[in-house]
Amino acid sequence: MRNGQDMDEIWISYNGKIYDVTHSRLWKNGKHYAHWAGQDLSDEFKDAPHQEWVFEKLTPIGLLI
Ligand code: HEM
Repeated sequence: MRNGQDMDEIWISYNGKIYDVTHSRLWKNGKHYAHWAGQDLSDEFKDAPHQEWVFEKLTPIGLLI
């Protein structure tokens, strides 16, 4: 799952794209505030205090199909 609990890499998905947040200190152990990595978080994004600019410095590593 790469949710921060199983493998070294930590991935999240948003709006059809997959991002590697392994090196983000904000996603340590796969947890970002109330949110867990390893899944599509598109629906949970409405709870975030930030907009989509948080993805600007992240490069998508894949597409969710
Ligand atoms: C309770 C909900 C949430 C809170 C309180 C929260 C809070 C934050 C904060 C404070 C930052 C740092 C912004 C900055 O650099 O100034 C951040 C970054 C980020 N957030 Fe959230 N967030 C929430 C939900 C989400 C969700 C649901 C997603 C994914 C769909 C998400 C994805 C990200 C990403 C990708 C970053 C950038 C990480 C990095 O660059 O290292 N956040 N968030």
